[in-house]
Amino acid sequence: VSIIYLSPVANLFLKFRFQKLNVADEDNWQQVFKTVMNQFGHVDILVNSAGITGGSADVEHETLDDWGKVFDVNAKGSFLGVKHAMANMKNGGAIVNVVSMAGAYAEPVAVAYSASKGAERMMTKSAALYGAQKEKPIRVNAVLPAATNTGMVKEITALQPEVMQKQMEKIPLKKFAEPEDMANMIAFLVSDDAKFITGGDFMVDGGQSAGF
Ligand SMILES: NC(=O)c1ccc[n+]([C@@H]2O[C@H](COP(=O)([O-])OP(=O)(O)OC[C@H]3O[C@@H](n4cnc5c(N)ncnc54)[C@H](O)[C@@H]3O)[C@@H](O)[C@H]2O)c1
Repeated sequence: VSIIYLSPVANLFLKFRFQKLNVADEDNWQQVFKTVMNQFGHVDILVNSAGITGGSADVEHETLDDWGKVFDVNAKGSFLGVKHAMANMKNGGAIVNVVSMAGAYAEPVAVAYSASKGAERMMTKSAALYGAQKEKPIRVNAVLPAATNTGMVKEITALQPEVMQKQMEKIPLKKFAEPEDMANMIAFLVSDDAKFITGGDFMVDGGQSAGF
């Protein structure tokens, strides 16, 4: 369970609201959008960032149960968010899905994570094509972070430091990203400066995707 951050412009006294949301639960999403529409009258931006790694199992050792849990959050959760945002963005809007480099480049491990992020990435493109057909277009883009200094990376580093050391070595800029590196890209993509950009993959990866 996580928290959604809502930032209205209309009400000077009400800068933001928090609401609990399990992204894998469709009723929760409907409730969130109902609340937003009731309180603010419109939805303009959605950032789908909730995600879990579900461990690092390879395809032979992954369990069906763990596979399902990872897909529930990463693939189903982001799909539900986009689905219900689309229905509520009456004035057009912008959506960003926080995918992962793992959604474009596979490794022998973390098969469920990689596959779920691949699903999220392609869902983004399909949604972008659909959103572009609307009279007031809804732009949908994917940000693909490389390893970033958040709870997720700190957790893996504590358990498997050698895995994260290898990740670091793959990044030409020789350090992990900071959360604000992703926030800066997201802020750009949801702004009018990005008004002609939709359906794209935006790799914030310290050069990792540039070559071998
Ligand atoms: N940190 C990285 O290195 C990295 C790299 C690539 C992609 N990403 C992606 O970035 C996004 C953000 O990850 P992070 O690094 O901040 O990880 P994090 O573990 O620090 O945060 C993930 C958040 O998702 C929330 N969450 C999990 N399941 C949820 C659910 N069912 N409903 C609502 N919220 C739920 C958690 O409560 C947590 O706040 C994720 O989608 C992740 O896959 C992270």
